[in-house]
Amino acid sequence: MAKELKAGQKEELNIGKIEQYGHGGDVWTAAKAFGGQAEAFLDYSANINPLGPPSCVQQALQQSWERMLQYPDPGHRKMKGYLAERLGVEPEYLLIGNGAAECMALALLYLKPTTVGVIAPCFSEYEALSKQFDAKVIAIRGSKELDYQAPAEELLKLAAERDVCFVGHPNNPTGVLYSSQVLTEAANLAAEKNHTLIVDEAFIDFLDEDEAEVNSLYRLCENNRHLIVLRSLTKFYAIPGLRLGYAIAHPSLIEGMKDKQVTWSVNGLALAAGEALFDPKHREEVAAYEEETRTLIVKEREWLRAELRVLGLETWPSQANFLLCHIETPWTAASLQQALGGRGILIRSCAMYEGLQDGHFRLAVKDHSSNERLIHTLRQVLAEEQPSSS
Ligand SMILES: Cc1ncc(COP(=O)(O)O)c(C=O)c1O
Repeated sequence: MAKELKAGQKEELNIGKIEQYGHGGDVWTAAKAFGGQAEAFLDYSANINPLGPPSCVQQALQQSWERMLQYPDPGHRKMKGYLAERLGVEPEYLLIGNGAAECMALALLYLKPTTVGVIAPCFSEYEALSKQFDAKVIAIRGSKELDYQAPAEELLKLAAERDVCFVGHPNNPTGVLYSSQVLTEAANLAAEKNHTLIVDEAFIDFLDEDEAEVNSLYRLCENNRHLIVLRSLTKFYAIPGLRLGYAIAHPSLIEGMKDKQVTWSVNGLALAAGEALFDPKHREEVAAYEEETRTLIVKEREWLRAELRVLGLETWPSQANFLLCHIETPWTAASLQQALGGRGILIRSCAMYEGLQDGHFRLAVKDHSSNERLIHTLRQVLAEEQPSSS
């Protein structure tokens, strides 16, 4: 599918800038750089459930097109009611957003922090949004020996000292989970200092249900007015184009965040999807889909790790649907991205993450036949190609 490159053409192709908007999943930039149709890429750069959305969501979308003729409910009442029931919290503890990304922005808009603490490497939006809202970002580095987590005492210090502190749980791009005891301590410290801890649980649904319940911090929100838990529905339920996520926090925080939300930012079709997902009458179907997803991801993640190891690549022990990987010189993430891009496969370079190196990249975990194609192509590339110098 990729167009042939003429000698000397590489420089014109913006190689190394596939993540020019700061994220994976940009198949449009990839098509410009590597040729071919955007839709034809096998996209390992965005971490979306390979099963696609559950069928009740697909049906709800097909049946709900008329909701385009109405303004969406600005109070998101039906979805919020179902979700509250599912989580066992009062609806006042929930804010529905246009993706977890909107909830993140609303937290910053409301809290107006002067300083924001992050632990590098982490999701780039923590820093980008903080800067957008004029906060100073203080990054500490995770330690390689701890799979890029910060030692507990450093995390606690960050939460105590900074107005707002973000923690990915599991963290992106490592997939590693913090200890819930340490995070609980950090949330208590933040409360003592009148600061706020934001725990980003965008990928926590990929854990086994009981483990997610034990590891999540959302139950602490009842007694802690300085803790915000973020959840995304776009990854696990495969609806990134619809945009849907939520925040769980004490009503005092939720009201402040809601005040900053643009009315109707969550559109009617996204609400239809959310209502279908959490409607008790779909519980059995959705539970079966959730189980199938978790089983598939664990199996494929371990298969991929083993195959990558055989190819000489280092990986980290992820609990999510992606893997942080490292390739040794003379290869770099950029040259590997270029070689695979030319063969129709898109990977996420992580070389630009603070604390990581030129050889770091991230792979989504997909279905077995895609994963086989990825490994087959990687094997070919490593055997047949010389890394380019871009
Ligand atoms: C760690 C993390 N949090 C939040 C988000 C945003 O998720 P959403 O699509 O729900 O806005 C992402 C998206 O990639 C992410 O990786």
